[in-house]
Amino acid sequence: MENRPLLEVRDLAVSFPAAGGEWLPVVEDVSFTLGQGESAALVGESGSGKTVTSLAIMGLVGVSSGRITAGSITFDGRELTALPEREWQRLRGPSLGMIFQQPIRSLNPAFTVGEQIAESVRRHLGLDRRRARARAIEMLDLVQIPRAAQRVDDYPHQFSGGMCQRVMIAMVMACNPRLLIADEPTTALDVTVQKRILDLLRELQEQTGVSLLFVSHDLAVVAELCQRVMVMYAGQIVESASAADVFFRPTHPYTSGLLAAIPKPGLLTDRRLTAIPGSIPAPGHWPVGCRFHDRCPYREPGVCDVDRPGLVPAGSTAETRCLRTKEIELRGVTVP
Ligand SMILES: Nc1ncnc2c1ncn2[C@@H]1O[C@H](COP(=O)(O)OP(=O)(O)OP(=O)(O)O)[C@@H](O)[C@H]1O
Ligand SMILES: [Mg+2]
Repeated sequence: MENRPLLEVRDLAVSFPAAGGEWLPVVEDVSFTLGQGESAALVGESGSGKTVTSLAIMGLVGVSSGRITAGSITFDGRELTALPEREWQRLRGPSLGMIFQQPIRSLNPAFTVGEQIAESVRRHLGLDRRRARARAIEMLDLVQIPRAAQRVDDYPHQFSGGMCQRVMIAMVMACNPRLLIADEPTTALDVTVQKRILDLLRELQEQTGVSLLFVSHDLAVVAELCQRVMVMYAGQIVESASAADVFFRPTHPYTSGLLAAIPKPGLLTDRRLTAIPGSIPAPGHWPVGCRFHDRCPYREPGVCDVDRPGLVPAGSTAETRCLRTKEIELRGVTVP
């Protein structure tokens, strides 16, 4: 099948055990597709469910005792949710790669970076020692570590934060995954290093054709890197559209609120950002009706606090989970 998306997530729900033997849903109704070579972003405030969604795709929610309770995840046409762990292990590495949210802690301080990359390709691709080392050097070079042939024998503590992040990217990309999930890969880094890592991811994507699911709380970052943006709130996708539409023509008040909170260059520092008042409700405390209604300046009593919005088409590329999207006018980013 030619036009089949590489990844298709349908009505995904994930729960974690809560007090009293209950299962608490933390992600619900999540649906999206990702094409071969496409880049899409999952964006939202802390706790919205970005990492849990990513871990579900990797088959890793069980590690922290979570469970996929509904929906399906197909990768290259194959249903993943019912796979036994043994099969997941075969996919992680050569098919599904993930850069985790706290990458620096994922490197083992006791082994050289070369040994760690080599170990990954030996395990997943079955390369012998010599070829695995050559692959490690090649990958360090690809992620633009200077003097890769020497630095391959260094330990993680001899690398800066930005360099460790490059090593993590090298380790994941060494197995040639078809899907790369990058969970907040630049959050711990300072702004200039951040920009270089984003440039690197963009270049790697162009060179390798890997499909990229980029996870971030920063809309400004993802709009630059990704073709499509999916905005998450309280365990659901509330808006999905092309990066340009999300940025300039948002259809959900939450997206518009996030855009208003992006710092604008040239604004006087004493101008306060228009942050969204209130905070994201925790799982188990999601309000009835639209989950955003109690923070929404456009809410209509009797509608938004009653009806549950579905994700519906709202423009050429947009889908939105807002009951009032046709009646309201939302501000995107304005170009001065
Ligand atoms: N192992 C777990 N057990 C119980 N609840 C969990 C577990 N992991 C995540 N959660 C809950 O699921 C919700 C979504 O968490 P998730 O880590 O996906 O958020 P996130 O969008 O990645 O946030 P951040 O931007 O802080 O990384 C949160 O309320 C979190 O507390
Ligand atoms: Mg996270």
